[in-house]
Amino acid sequence: MTGAGRRSQTQEMVNMIILGIETSCDETAAAVVADGRRILSSVVSSQIDIHHPYGGVVPELASRKHIEAIVPVTTEALSKANLDLGQIDGIAVTQGPGLVGALLVGFSFAKGLARVLDIPWQGVNHLEGHLHSVFLGDDPPPIPFAALLASGGHTSIYRVSGVTRFEVLGQTRDDAAGEAFDKVSKMLGLGYPGGGVIGRLAGRGGPERIRFPRAYLDRDRFDFSFSGLKTAVNQYIQRHSEDLADRMADIAAGFQEAVVDVLVEKLFRAAETTGCRHIAVVGGVAANGRLRERLAREGALKGLSVYIPPLDLCGDNAAMIAAIGYHHLWEGRASGMSEDVYSRYKRP
Ligand code: KG4
Ligand code: ZN
Repeated sequence: MTGAGRRSQTQEMVNMIILGIETSCDETAAAVVADGRRILSSVVSSQIDIHHPYGGVVPELASRKHIEAIVPVTTEALSKANLDLGQIDGIAVTQGPGLVGALLVGFSFAKGLARVLDIPWQGVNHLEGHLHSVFLGDDPPPIPFAALLASGGHTSIYRVSGVTRFEVLGQTRDDAAGEAFDKVSKMLGLGYPGGGVIGRLAGRGGPERIRFPRAYLDRDRFDFSFSGLKTAVNQYIQRHSEDLADRMADIAAGFQEAVVDVLVEKLFRAAETTGCRHIAVVGGVAANGRLRERLAREGALKGLSVYIPPLDLCGDNAAMIAAIGYHHLWEGRASGMSEDVYSRYKRP
C-alpha cells in the first residue's frame, strides 16, 4: 500500500463509529464508541431486581429479559449518541464466555443487524473487553502493564503488551473473587449481587477482628483459590448463629480483607516478575473501595502507577466491547455469519 493509501485508510478507521452490544450475563448493554476511544453513549439495563430474590442469576430469566431489553437499549444508545443506524460503521458483540442463552440474544441481534446494514461485525471476548476498559479512562496506562481482572465469573492476572495483545499469567482454580463476595452475601442473607453490599458493610467493621484464611497457593505463581475462604466464612457463621447480627460487619470486613490481601499481593508480584511499572485492575470487583484504597497507597510505596477504570466501566458494559471490537476490526478480524457463541474461556 502506498503512503497516501495507508493514510486515507487510517483516517477512515480513526473515524469509525462502532455499536457495541453486551448480553453475557445479567446486564443488557449497548454503546456507541467513536475511533475506539470516545464513548458517545453507553446504556446498561440491569436485571438485578429480577435475580435478587433467587440469590444468583437464573439463566432462563436472564435470556427472556435480554430479549425484551435489547431493542429499547440499543435504540436509547443510538439516540443518546444522536446517531441513526445508517451512521454506524461496524458492530462489536460479546461472543463469550458467559451464559449461552443470554449471549445468543445479543449475538443473534448483532449478526442480523450487521447483515441488514451490510457492515462488518466482530464477536468479542468478554474478558478482553474488561481488560480494554482501562484504556477508556481519562488516563490510560502506558503499555506494557500487569492487569488483574476480577469479576463475578473470572479472576485472572495478565501481562498486557498491546491493545489486543495479552498473556494470561494465572487464574482462579475455583471461585472468582466477585463470586466469593456474592456467596458470602447470600450466607449473610444480604442477597445478590454481594459486592456492593459487603463492601459497604465492611466499612463499619474491623478488618483484623476476624482473621479468615488466605490462599496464596504457590507464592511465585498467579493462580487464585477462594473456595476455602468461602467455607471458612460459612463455618464461622454456623458457629456464631446466635449473635450473628453483632458480628456481620466484622465478618464482611474480615472476608473482604482476606480477598484484597491476595489480589493485591498477586498483582504486585506479577508487576515485579514481568518488569512492569504500571498495574491495572478491571472487572466488577475493581469497584471495591478497600481494594482501590490499598492499591493506591501500597502501589505508591512501591513506585507503581495504578490504573482503574471509572466505576461505570468496571461492571459489565458495552463501551468496552465496542472499543476492543474497533481494534479487532482495524486489524482485519471481522467475524463471519457461521460464528457461534461460547460459554467458557477461549482466545478469539
Ligand atoms: O464484571 P462484572 O460486572 O460481571 C462479570 O463479568 O462477572 O462483575 C460482577 C461482580 C459481582 O460478583 C459483584 O458482586 C462484584 O463484581 N462487585 C464487587 C463490587 N461491585 C461489584 N465486588 C466487590 N466490591 C464491590 N464494590
Ligand atoms: Zn464482566
